Order: sequence, then C-alpha cells, then structure tokens
Amino acid sequence: MSAYHIRGGRKLHGEVDVAGSKNAALAIMSAVVLAEGTTILHNVPNVSDTRTKASLLEVFGAKVQWREGSLLIDCSRLHDGEADEEMVRSIRTSFYLLGPLVARIGFVTLPAPGGCKIGARPVDLHVKGLLALGAELELSEGRYTVRAKELRGSEIYLDVPSAGATQHLMATATLAKGITVIQNAAIEPEVTALAEFLNRMGANVEGAGTSTITIQGGAKLEPCGFTIPSDRLQAGTYLLAGAITGGDVTVKGIIPDNQTAVINKLREVGAELIEGPDWLRVKAGTNMKGVRIKTMPYPGFPTDMQQPMSAFLTICEGVSVVEETIYESRIGHVQELNRMGANILQEGRTSIINGVARLRGATVSASDLRAGAALVLAGLAAEGESFVQNIHFIDRGYDDLVGTIRSLGGDITRIQTQEKRGKVGETLH
Ligand code: UD1
Repeated sequence: MSAYHIRGGRKLHGEVDVAGSKNAALAIMSAVVLAEGTTILHNVPNVSDTRTKASLLEVFGAKVQWREGSLLIDCSRLHDGEADEEMVRSIRTSFYLLGPLVARIGFVTLPAPGGCKIGARPVDLHVKGLLALGAELELSEGRYTVRAKELRGSEIYLDVPSAGATQHLMATATLAKGITVIQNAAIEPEVTALAEFLNRMGANVEGAGTSTITIQGGAKLEPCGFTIPSDRLQAGTYLLAGAITGGDVTVKGIIPDNQTAVINKLREVGAELIEGPDWLRVKAGTNMKGVRIKTMPYPGFPTDMQQPMSAFLTICEGVSVVEETIYESRIGHVQELNRMGANILQEGRTSIINGVARLRGATVSASDLRAGAALVLAGLAAEGESFVQNIHFIDRGYDDLVGTIRSLGGDITRIQTQEKRGKVGETLH
C-alpha cells in the first residue's frame, strides 16, 4: 500500500507549471470516438483516471498510444466491447462514452459508472438527454445497453447545470441530425474546452460558456490535434500549498479568469494574490482570517476546492463556515483533519471550522481525491511528520504531485506502508 510521508513546516516557494486538466481531458477522450481516424491530444495529464480512460477506449476498438505528454487515439475501427466493471466504476466519465459510441456504432453496453464516493451522483440527466436524442436505453443487472439507428437533434433542459451531462449530451448531439439546444447548461471551463475540441473536429457548437448551447449536428467529424488546457484544480491546490505553509508560490500556464472564486477567497482570508496574463502568485499573509464559503456551480466556489480550502482554513484565525451544496458527502477530510489537531464541527453539509494555531502531524487516510489533496496540504503545514494513506485517490487527479511539491521546497516522499494507519516500510522514490 502506497502512502505519502510528509515532514511539515517548510514554507513552499517558487514557480510551477500546471499540468493539463484531468476533467477536460476525460471529457475530450470520450468525444474522440466521434471521428474516424487518429486524434492527437497534447498536454494530457499522466494521472490514473486518464490511463484508465485510455484502457477503456481500447475495449471499444480504439488504438491508443502514449507519446511523452501526448495521446494518439485511432478510432478507425470501433466495436462494442465487454468493459470490465471495476474499470468502469473507477471513473465517472466512463458513462460519457455511451452517447458518442452509440452515435458512431449504433449499439453499446457499459456497466453503470462510479467515481469518487462523495454523494449519490445520479445519471438521470444523461439518460433523459440520450432518450431525447432518440437513443433507446435499458438498465439491467447494473449494465446499460444503448441502441440508436439514428440520433436526431432535440431540445434538452437540464434540471441542474451538470458539467458531465452538458459535456456528454453536447458531444453526442454533434452526430445527431438537426439542431440540439441544451438549456441550463453548465458553463465550466471544461465544457468550453470540449466545445472547442468538437469545433476543431468540424462540429458546429455555439454558446458553450453560456447556459444555452446550440449544436447543429449531423456533419461528419474529422480527427484533429488539440492541446488540453491546464488544470484549474491542480493550480488552486498549489496556490493553497503556498498559502497554508506561509510561503510564496506562482502557478504558470493557467487562465487566471477561471480562478476568480479561489482568488477572491484567498484575498478575503488575507493572502496577497498577484495576477499575470497566464500566471497567479500567492503570498501568504501574516494575519489570515476565517471566511464563509458556499460551493456553487462555476463561476461560484468550486466544490473540488472545498476540501483543500477547508484544510487551509483550519489554521486561519477565527471561525470559517464552509457549506457544500453540490455533493452531500464531500466531507471525508473532516475527521482526518481533526486527527491532525484541527477543530472542525460538521453539521450536515456545513463545516464550522475554528482556526487553530497549528496542526500536528499524524497518520491519516484519504477517502476521495480532493480529501486526499486536503490532507497533503495539512501535512505540509503541520508540525512534525504525517503519513497520508490511500493515495491511489490522489493519483487519480494530480500529475507528479511529489515532484511538484518538492520543486517548491516541500518534503514529501512516496513510500510503501505495511498496514493501515501504519508502519513505514521501504521508500520507493
Ligand atoms: C464534474 C467533475 C467533478 C466536479 C463536478 C462539479 C469530472 C470528471 N468531474 O463531475 O470533479 O466536482 O463536475 O463541478 O469532470 N447531477 C444530477 N443528475 C445527473 C448528473 C448530475 O442530479 O444526471 C447532479 C450531481 O449529483 C451534482 C450536480 O448535478 O449534485 C453536479 O454534478 P456534475 O456537474 O454532473 O458533476 P460531474 O460531471 O459528475
């Protein structure tokens, strides 16, 4: 079992290049199947979710080749396949393959999806949208079977602006004959990135980045080259690593406009934020104070940053109130942060954080991806040594976390532990 060994208390300083966006890459990797031939994606983050997604594409006949940071995906000969249940359940975006695959090959079966255990995570909006586009769906023994002779454009209203449903249905609609209008669409930057990719393939998608997206579907799409934009969530995590350790960190190669909520909250806390055209620098303040945060769909405060931000707020003076409105159980970090000396009271979806002077190192366990990131941040700030276990969750979304944190002066090592809450064994690298 792998874990991170962290010696806390070092201020992080320096600059980092932020890797490609996991969520944008996963959505785009579903859409590559829309075109026959070889698509080349650059700046794909090397994280376990993208590797799993690549393996899943192979099940359906795609030929996948990793070449340094690029991914070559040949979708010339696709077919239905027997996807392994564990593989599909391990990533939420496996489900986004259903529509594009059925648009290309007419018939597909896939086990129901998974992802981090942070809430019920229904797929009703995806299902309603696929039905509206003319697909037939059947769920039996935990497997979806989807058929379509021909998809046709439709009006789709999303009850909630789901990023995943918007991406899934927008991509599928490019091969549906006629016009599709998605109302109450998500406006996340990862939705816009997917629309850019689809248009690069020859699709006609308008309005991405607003709540109404119009797709003129039915044209044959061609493979293309595309660069995945940088990851705003990894960027936000490294900014917080600077702030929580009392340091000074610059994240480069990013779009500062996509980070408005995080920038504003860090400023409100009392950190200094300096913005460049494609970089952001955080300098920790001397007297950082608690704030109120409520997670909201973009451009509100991102639910993915809620747990890392909460870790930071544990050492800010006074009381912070953090309300999670998107996922009902994104709270796996709370108990573990309290083991490190934090003072967090959990009331339903709201965390009441009483700032403490310092955190203390401890052996803690990640329950999901961003909870894991929160524990790493806490470990970097804590007095003494910490061991963060269950780091396979963190591997899902952080490309070279150890190398990046070390380049900023943090003391973190990936090790192998013998048992849970436990003993330290051999150092890997
Ligand atoms: C994506 C991101 C995830 C992020 C989330 C919200 C990926 C791989 N994951 O997840 O990191 O935390 O956006 O920004 O891109 N919902 C329904 N029915 C559906 C679909 C969603 O009710 O059919 C609800 C969800 O339960 C949730 C809300 O909509 O409360 C938002 O979920 P959604 O935006 O779909 O999240 P994901 O795409 O799963």
